[in-house]
Amino acid sequence: MAHIHIEKAKIGQKQTQLLVIGIFENEQDFVQSKELDPVIYSTIKEIFHNKEFQGTFGSIVIIPTMNKGPMKKIMFIGLGEKEKFTTESARIISGKSALKAKELGIKEIAIFPFSNAEECLLEAISEGINLSLYSFNKYKTINNDEVSFSNKPIHVTILVNSDVTRFQSVVDKASLIVESVNFAREMGNLPPNECSPAQFVSLASSVADRYSLKMRVIERYEMESIGLNGVVAVGNGSNNPPKMVILEYNGNQQDQRPYLLVGKAVTFDTGGISLKPGDKMDEMKFDKCGGCNVVAIMKAVASLKLPLNVVAIIPSVENMPSSNSYRPGDIIRLYNGKTIEVINTDAEGRIILADALAYGIATYHPKVVIDMATLTGACIIALGANVAAMIGTNKELIERLGKISTKTAEKMWELPLYEEFYEQIKSNVADIKNIGGRPGGAITAAAFLSNFTEGIPWIHLDIAGPAWTQDGTHDRSYNPKGATGFGIRSIIKLLMEDNYTPS
Ligand code: BES
Ligand code: ZN
Ligand code: ZN
Repeated sequence: MAHIHIEKAKIGQKQTQLLVIGIFENEQDFVQSKELDPVIYSTIKEIFHNKEFQGTFGSIVIIPTMNKGPMKKIMFIGLGEKEKFTTESARIISGKSALKAKELGIKEIAIFPFSNAEECLLEAISEGINLSLYSFNKYKTINNDEVSFSNKPIHVTILVNSDVTRFQSVVDKASLIVESVNFAREMGNLPPNECSPAQFVSLASSVADRYSLKMRVIERYEMESIGLNGVVAVGNGSNNPPKMVILEYNGNQQDQRPYLLVGKAVTFDTGGISLKPGDKMDEMKFDKCGGCNVVAIMKAVASLKLPLNVVAIIPSVENMPSSNSYRPGDIIRLYNGKTIEVINTDAEGRIILADALAYGIATYHPKVVIDMATLTGACIIALGANVAAMIGTNKELIERLGKISTKTAEKMWELPLYEEFYEQIKSNVADIKNIGGRPGGAITAAAFLSNFTEGIPWIHLDIAGPAWTQDGTHDRSYNPKGATGFGIRSIIKLLMEDNYTPS
């Protein structure tokens, strides 16, 4: 993580290894010319004049100053067309700048905000920097440049001409949130042999310890005795027993009803007896990303000391084929008493989530429930690899999250939970069955879950596409390969603007 400081300084004053300046297309007039050494200024003019740099989005030119100024090098980075520039562009451009500095081995840079300094712009710039600098190095024993660079902090100064204190606090908050996103990525990227449900629990407990969160782990024997039979069934095929983690954050003195966050943490999904094909099965280590993200949200909520109550429940299992596995045809009674018929053991996520939702709602009486899960391949077919599906029962909540997601650029799109979809999951022998056929697969999965949300305002986020970088993922500077931590920034924003009382 970079240390980011806000400083009041003019363009020609800042002593730095690399000064980053954004330039819009067709706006290469270098207005602050008077502040620069005449030799540097004429070099720049020459480059612009010769059209060697035209400000196209993401293009870069670096000019060494030969000790003719307080900065060692100046980097111009293209911002594209002015009218198209958004906070997401700022995220991408600052990410690219940080990655360029990393490539050059430069550990200290200064950046001019690319447009009028506003809180959302400064926030996006700091997000771009710290999200892009993350890389998963835990298992690299060869100490190459990449690894050694990532191990040392880099210093970034953002130069403004007013409101230093206000902007510093914006940047500090953003950094805390990104630290959580990177924590979720690190957890999500762990290989399945090093992240069993027990290991998942110990990572969650490191967060609980650090921020004094209340934590409880429900073990298999207790699941059996209280009726969390879905989690038990799905976890049965593995030698690594299932666990259910509960984290509680109390930031509200009054006994306000909490938000309940539920995350799917299948540490590895082979499909079980309904075994998946081998191709890309390794990617199913990312089937724990919903759970990782929920743990990370708790870390952020606690580090930001938000004035509200939040409970997180994360059922964690490994879905394996063995003689102890649950089977197609099994009928299971879940926590709220409803029975389900298992048609396909690869539709395991909805089963463990259903138990966790029902348990969480009965135990904590939340005012809002949000679940996050890499739930269906069908979601990727419907919306592609870059968009999460939002499905739920509360229009207002969905609208709010939808608006937030356009600002965070964590793309989310609502899919309709029409009555007809419930027909597809009717079972001949139990209350419902765990798959509804191929049509609308992401929605029938949500219809299944809604049987366990007891009418509480609820949003289900299917993050099967954007949870990690995969086939079809759009390239973005700030999303390095692997787990992305998708959705964390949006959910935290939703919690930060907590003034929601369900009708
Ligand atoms: N974890 C998968 C969903 C998934 C698949 C996410 C590929 C991301 C990429 C989930 O447990 C699953 O296997 N779902 C099945 C459901 C089907 C059997 C109804 C699927 O989507 O194929
Ligand atoms: Zn599965
Ligand atoms: Zn799964």
